[in-house]
Amino acid sequence: MAVNSTLDRVFVLELVRVTEAAAIAAAKLVGMGDEKAADAAAVESMRNEFNDLDIKGRIVIGEGERDEAPMLYIGEEVGTGNGPEIDIALDPLEGTTIAAKAMQNSLAVVALAEKGNLLNAPDVYMDKIAVGPGLPEGVVDLDNSVADNVKAVAKAKNRPVSDMLVCVLDRPRHEQIIKEVRECGARVKLIGDGDVAGVIDTTNPKTSVDIYMGSGGAPEGVLAAAALRCIGGQIQGRLTFRNDTERGRANKWGITDLDRKYSTEEMASGDVIFAATGVTDGTLLHGVHTSEDGKRYTTETIVMRSASKTVRRIQTEHDRAIKLS
Ligand code: FBP
Repeated sequence: MAVNSTLDRVFVLELVRVTEAAAIAAAKLVGMGDEKAADAAAVESMRNEFNDLDIKGRIVIGEGERDEAPMLYIGEEVGTGNGPEIDIALDPLEGTTIAAKAMQNSLAVVALAEKGNLLNAPDVYMDKIAVGPGLPEGVVDLDNSVADNVKAVAKAKNRPVSDMLVCVLDRPRHEQIIKEVRECGARVKLIGDGDVAGVIDTTNPKTSVDIYMGSGGAPEGVLAAAALRCIGGQIQGRLTFRNDTERGRANKWGITDLDRKYSTEEMASGDVIFAATGVTDGTLLHGVHTSEDGKRYTTETIVMRSASKTVRRIQTEHDRAIKLS
């Protein structure tokens, strides 16, 4: 079946270049303890690559608002301007602390959609619950108790509750969730950072993760929703606000119902392309590595498209002597 949409098939491979470039730039600073420098390198490199693409791209999820982010800020236009109007969600370095400490699962991430199809999520927290593919629609719900959600997934998978592994960001704010998961007899996998990978892990049986729960960045929620649109699975998200400044950010992006629960499709609809390149090794991808002779980098990227449901893993060797952009 041919897939027609504004998103040309070519973009699938073009996007790989974009995330590869950001990952390589960040990887040079992995383990250096400088989150800002690693992020800045990824941002600059990703922006250069985007500006070579024949698109009229608009950042809807980016590095922050214009006054706080010099590059890839929300609303910035990228691309040559010759081409389709495309909305972009990106995180050039998802897991800045992970990268600074050379720990697991930092990624360079991008999602593309036709104009108007990605939620303009403000930079606030979002309560999230996610499961992988093959489960009944609505099997979990943010309004259900932790125990009810865990039991519903166990039942749908026809497995005991004690088999269930719930991935949660290791934060004091999640103490209650962690307690309730364990009290109902299920297990908790704590991650230090990186909930885009945490959500995607629910789709990969090798990780054993059955459910992702907890609050993390709203932008990361939209990126994860884009990934699940392609690979299968469900995520539900609800923005949370700590003060009026954060509520103001939501209003600025036209969000008036502050208590709304967003489904996967409400965060990322239509035809979506998602790409991520590993910066450090992780559950989803290998990170950037240097060859024995020091002359080449290897990268691993996952790139997928919702319309065709293709999921590609691309391993690339890059000559270090040739500058990417
Ligand atoms: P950064 O890449 O911005 O450092 O985000 C890492 C991350 O762990 C996200 O994956 C997650 O959504 C968010 O931070 C959680 O925020 P916090 O660290 O404030 O709990």
